[in-house]
Amino acid sequence: MAVIGRRRSDFVPADLDFEKLELEGHKRAISHYYEECWKDYRYFWLNRSNLAMHFGYWDESVTTHSQSLVRTNEVMADWADIRPGERVLDAGCGVGGSSMWLAENRGAVTVGVTITADQVMRARRYARERGLSEVCTFYNRDYRDTGFEDASFDVVWACESAAHAPDQSEFLREAFRVLKPGGRLMSRDLYVRRPAANDYERSLMETWQAAWALPNLPTHERFMEMAEECGFVVGRHMDVTSTAVRSGRRLYRMSMAVLPLETLLVKAGIRNETQHKNLTGPIAGWRGHQLGLWRAAHTLSRKPAS
Ligand SMILES: C[S@@+](CC[C@H](N)C(=O)[O-])C[C@H]1O[C@@H](n2cnc3c(N)ncnc32)[C@H](O)[C@@H]1O
Repeated sequence: MAVIGRRRSDFVPADLDFEKLELEGHKRAISHYYEECWKDYRYFWLNRSNLAMHFGYWDESVTTHSQSLVRTNEVMADWADIRPGERVLDAGCGVGGSSMWLAENRGAVTVGVTITADQVMRARRYARERGLSEVCTFYNRDYRDTGFEDASFDVVWACESAAHAPDQSEFLREAFRVLKPGGRLMSRDLYVRRPAANDYERSLMETWQAAWALPNLPTHERFMEMAEECGFVVGRHMDVTSTAVRSGRRLYRMSMAVLPLETLLVKAGIRNETQHKNLTGPIAGWRGHQLGLWRAAHTLSRKPAS
């Protein structure tokens, strides 16, 4: 049958669920980003001991990039006061670096979920190699709908992962549901600091957010409000941007240094558009940081005991 000239809507089934379609598209965008950019993370950011896909926490105890990545885990675990035997849901677990660190250093029993299927396979393999498969398990699930039982975790841990959610209250509601009464949500993330004041600032944020699949960053204040709307009591919270700056600058300098060669690799079809944006995005992000457009912050929230 000739189709030329027919309107696109003629082919759309009447019962198509656009919301679901959008959601599926968003999930695919995140997985696609992480799958395509895994080698960038593997060779230019993490190592086999830290397996960390987050920014570092640079304080006086830290002298190297790798130490700064581990320090992020230490600081978050101290804030959340994670104790031996506690069950921790690592929401958006990457390749399991924080989960394994929490098991090895705090005696936690961890369950990691990530929307990126490749990461689950890698995390399971790394856990097997470290003899941690019994205490660190990993699943390909959405942190907005984990399928775990109500009140089954002592801690929900979200390290630079909730920022991927189009609506972070969906993540918060699920975290609240799976936490035991009195349980803690320890989150660390990137937040908008102030609205863009002009087209240049807007384009910096859009370029960075599109590259890293961060569709709808709230302010930290709005994140805490949403947590309270979901029933959490927000406790300690802190702007930690100054401790993350060296990580951002490292990323910026590395990206700038390799960009000319990388652009040739893109032209030759050796690297693709998603991978290219993984370099141009952080360059825009760093410029946005210099203009004070975003911040990094830690938040400890608690589900009331009764
Ligand atoms: C920046 S990485 C951080 C990984 C890890 N927390 C770490 O610190 O190394 C963000 C992670 O969030 C995961 N993620 C994003 N959206 C998700 C969702 N809706 N459900 C589960 N995982 C998600 C990604 O697949 C990725 O593993």
